[in-house]
Amino acid sequence: MPIIHHHIDSLRAALQPYRSEQRIALVPTMGNLHQGHLQLVKLAKQHADIVVVSIFVNPTQFGVGEDFDSYPRTLDADVAMLASVGADYVFAPSSDEIYPVLPSATAITAGAITSQLCGQSRPTHFDGVGIVVAKLFNIVQPDVSIFGQKDYQQLAIIKQLVRDLSYPIAIIGAPIVRATDGLALSSRNQYLNSDERQIAPILHSELKRLAQQLSEASNYKSVLQSLLIDSTKRITDAGLVIDYLEVKTTDLAAIDTQDSQLTNGQDLIILVAAWLGRARLLDNQLLTVKP
Ligand code: PAF
Repeated sequence: MPIIHHHIDSLRAALQPYRSEQRIALVPTMGNLHQGHLQLVKLAKQHADIVVVSIFVNPTQFGVGEDFDSYPRTLDADVAMLASVGADYVFAPSSDEIYPVLPSATAITAGAITSQLCGQSRPTHFDGVGIVVAKLFNIVQPDVSIFGQKDYQQLAIIKQLVRDLSYPIAIIGAPIVRATDGLALSSRNQYLNSDERQIAPILHSELKRLAQQLSEASNYKSVLQSLLIDSTKRITDAGLVIDYLEVKTTDLAAIDTQDSQLTNGQDLIILVAAWLGRARLLDNQLLTVKP
C-alpha cells in the first residue's frame, strides 16, 4: 500500500532520504482515479524510483458555478487502485494545508496561451492550475512529473511554467487512455447518464475522421474550414454543445489559412471541448499533414 501523507512537513521528511541517490516522480491528480491515472503512475515508475501521487481537488482552478463541491472525492478507493500499480506515496492535503491564505497574495499567470481554447470559457482555470502545480513542485521537488495529454493545453502551460520558473523537473506527457468505444477516460465521464454515454464517443470518431481527411488533403488549408463546419454539425446533431473545435500547430499557434504556403509533413493537433449534459468533455487528436 502507498503511504499516505496529509501534511507538507511529513511528506518532505519522508522523501528526504531518497533525494541524493534516487529519482522521484510526481503524478498530480484530483483523485477519483481511473485507468488513465494508473497509466500515468506506470509511466512514472519507468522514469523514477519513487512515485508520489498527489490527490487534491484544487479549489482555485474551479470557476464560479463549476463542479468544485460535487467533484467526486474517493480517497480510499483511489489509494487501493494506486496500490495495484505500486505507487509509493500519496499526498492528500487539506485545502488549508495547500492554501494557508486563500486567495494567495502571490499569483501565477500563464499569459497569452490561456486566452484561447479552454481559457476562453474558463478564464481563471489555468491560473489556478499554475499555482497549485507550482506549489506541488515546491513541496515534492520531483525529478520528473507526468501529465495526461488529454489536457493538452494544461500540459503546454506546465511546460511553460517549468521553463519560465527554471524548475529542474522533466515534464512527460502521457498518451490519452480510451474506453474500448474510443471515449477518452475522465473522472467527469461519470456525470454522463446511460444515453449520453452512448453518444459521447462521437467526439473521438469525429476527431479521427477529421484527422484522416486533413492528412489526406492535397491542400489542407483550403479544406480546413469546410471540414470543421461538417464535423461541428455532426457533433451538434448528436446532442453535444461545442465549446471549441479547432486545429492548431502542436505548440498551439493558430493556422493562417490565408497563407497558401503549405508546410509539408507538419504536425497539427485537433482540439475539442464539448458539453454533453452535465459533463464537459475534452479530447484531441494529433495528425501529420501529407508530405
Ligand atoms: O489535471 C488535473 O487533474 C489537475 O488540473 C491537476 C494537474 C492535478 C492540478 O490540480
